[in-house]
This record gives sequence, structure tokens and C-alpha cells, in this order.
Amino acid sequence: MILSASAPESIAACAANIRAGGLIGLPTETVYGLGADAGSDAAVAKIFAAKGRPADHPLIVHVSSQDGGMSGVAHFAAQVPSFAQQLMSAFWPGPLTLILPRRGGVGTAAAGGQNSIGLRCPAHPAAQAVLRALRDASAGQEPVWGLAAPSANRFGRVSPTTAAHVESELGTDLLILDGGPCDLGIESTIIDCTRGAPVLLRPGSISRTQVEEACGRKLLSKEELDAQAGRGLEAPRAPGTLESHYAPNATVRLMDAKALRTALDLLDGAIDQATNASIAVYARTPLKKVPRQILLRTMPQAASVTAHELFSVLRELDATGVKLIWVETPPDTLEWEGVRDRLQRASA
Ligand code: TXA
Ligand code: MG
Repeated sequence: MILSASAPESIAACAANIRAGGLIGLPTETVYGLGADAGSDAAVAKIFAAKGRPADHPLIVHVSSQDGGMSGVAHFAAQVPSFAQQLMSAFWPGPLTLILPRRGGVGTAAAGGQNSIGLRCPAHPAAQAVLRALRDASAGQEPVWGLAAPSANRFGRVSPTTAAHVESELGTDLLILDGGPCDLGIESTIIDCTRGAPVLLRPGSISRTQVEEACGRKLLSKEELDAQAGRGLEAPRAPGTLESHYAPNATVRLMDAKALRTALDLLDGAIDQATNASIAVYARTPLKKVPRQILLRTMPQAASVTAHELFSVLRELDATGVKLIWVETPPDTLEWEGVRDRLQRASA
């Protein structure tokens, strides 16, 4: 059931459902999440079941922006390195997840049993309204300190950026708070803060440069850390960052503009005018002479605009029943890193 986030009774209904151990679909500025009380291992188990996600994959726990997120952090994290503190001050509430050492006995199922926990303070006002309602300890109720919420899609599939996407992934029985289409459209930047230096686990809308400027430290890549792993440091586990992910039903293929042109020209010679379109193209470089059976979508020039529409476009193209989606490889620049990462995994 889809509820409008602008109605106060919707916020109350969602908070009540969480307190009762249930699940909700929740808007954030990145993508929609599937939320449960992070303090209840039984409620969190329902997330894994609904998504079909392996139970050892850790989830992100969302905290309220009251006190800059600090009381939520103090509840779940055993300690906060100073560079992590600087990142929270700079980017919270916002699309940044920090992996921190976990306080013993809290959020065990949400953390997939690991001794760390992923924390994020989302900027979407509807998400914050639910988190605030959950922290309310009046009338003798226990506060709920965090919402475990992975993206509200079935395991391995495209993340939802509207309430309707969530409903099509997880069904009409789920209570879904409709906060409109997500502003950013790709998931948060994830930084591992448990290894003495910040390590980028997943690129997002907040770029490497922004992170490095905010904390005055060099941001290591997973590969750089792996190189150190040989010297006695354990490599991080970020099971959600599997190579193949965000997969529509159609096969996604990434090609540069030249390869795309060649493929279209070859096709034009061979195409049977009577066949239905079974190929869609999503390209930034203007394409002349596209065979008319090809479904063409133009990729926006700005990385942020592409991020905003990316998952929606993949869903729309998929829904037409095409077998192949040919996508022009985005530019190899920092601002495109998040979009490039999602497309690489959609095509893996
Ligand atoms: O933007 C987002 O982050 C969205 C919205 C809903 O907030 N959430 C999201 O959650 O993308 P999810 O569960 O789909 O992605 C969680 C990612 C995975 O890659 C997982 O491995 C990593 O976060 N993660 C979470 N906790 C971790 C931990 N303790 N250690 C290492 N990685 C962790
Ligand atoms: Mg996900």
C-alpha cells in the first residue's frame, strides 16, 4: 500500500509498523529503502527474506539527524575515528555511509554478524520524520535508534527510485511511504572507517575529492587496501558490492561511442524490417541514422542528471521487453564514477 509522505498520519503509521516489528518502504535522497528496526534481529530477518538477500550481507543502518546524528552513532558504534567525525560533520545528513566498529550486542543481524556497522543519516525529510518519530520515548515506549534499510529491490536487481518501483519489486502488501522520485538516484558513497585510513567501498554522488578535502586524508581504493592486505591487514568485506548487480532482465552491454556506431551500422544492414525492436540504446553522443526498430534514449550530458534517471531508464527500457540494452560508456572522469560503477555492474 502506498501512503503519501506529506500526510502526518502516514509517518505515524510507518513508525507504528516498525515498532510492531514490521517492514516499510522508505524514500531517501539516494534510492528507496526497505526498512526495519535495526535493534530487532527478528525484524531485520524479514528484510533478508523479502529481498532474497543472503543473511551474511550487512545492511546500512539509518539514524536520525537529531544532534547531528551523534546519539544514533553513539548507540551503534564502539568508536569514531576523527576523520570519520569530520566526514559526518561535512556530509550528514546526506548520501554518505560510514562503516564503523560496532558496539557489541547492538545491530547484530543488521551487520550480517560482522563486528562493524554501516551508518548513514539520510537527508530526505520523510525519512527523517520517520526516524524522529521512532526516537520518541514518551508514553513509556522504548526509542528505536536506527532503521536497517537496504535498497528496496529484490537481491541483485535494479534499485528503486520511486514508490511504484518498490511496489513492483516487493508487492502491494508492503507499507510504502511515497516521498516522490529520489533526488540523486544512485546509492550513497560508502567509506570504510575501520582501518585507520578512509577506504572507498562504493562510489556515489559525493566524490573522492570531496571526501579527501573534508577530512584532509587520502582516500584509499579497495585495490590499494588489498595490496596492503598481503602485509597483514585484512581486506574489507563489502558483500553488497558484488561485481554483478543492478541487473535488469535485458542484457546490458557497455560500448564507447565508436563501437556503438559500428554496431548500429552492422545492424542496419542486417535488420529485418518486419522484426520488432529487441534492442534499446542509451547514448550521450548524438547518433544519426539509427535503424527505426531501435529504441533510442538520450543520456543527459551531466553526470548528476544521468544518476537521477539511470535506474528508472533501465526499468523503462526493460519493461518494453527488449533483449539487449546498449549503453554508451560514460566519460572516465571523477564526476561520472558512481554512474560508471552502476553500469559496469549492470553489464557484468
Ligand atoms: O543510498 C543507500 O545507501 C541506500 C539507501 C536506502 O540508504 N541503501 C543501500 O543499502 O544501498 P544496501 O544494503 O543496498 O547496500 C549496503 C552496502 C553493501 O554494499 C554492503 O556490503 C555495505 O553497504 N555495508 C553495509 N554494512 C557494512 C559493513 N558493516 N561492512 C562492510 N560493508 C557494509
Ligand atoms: Mg542494494
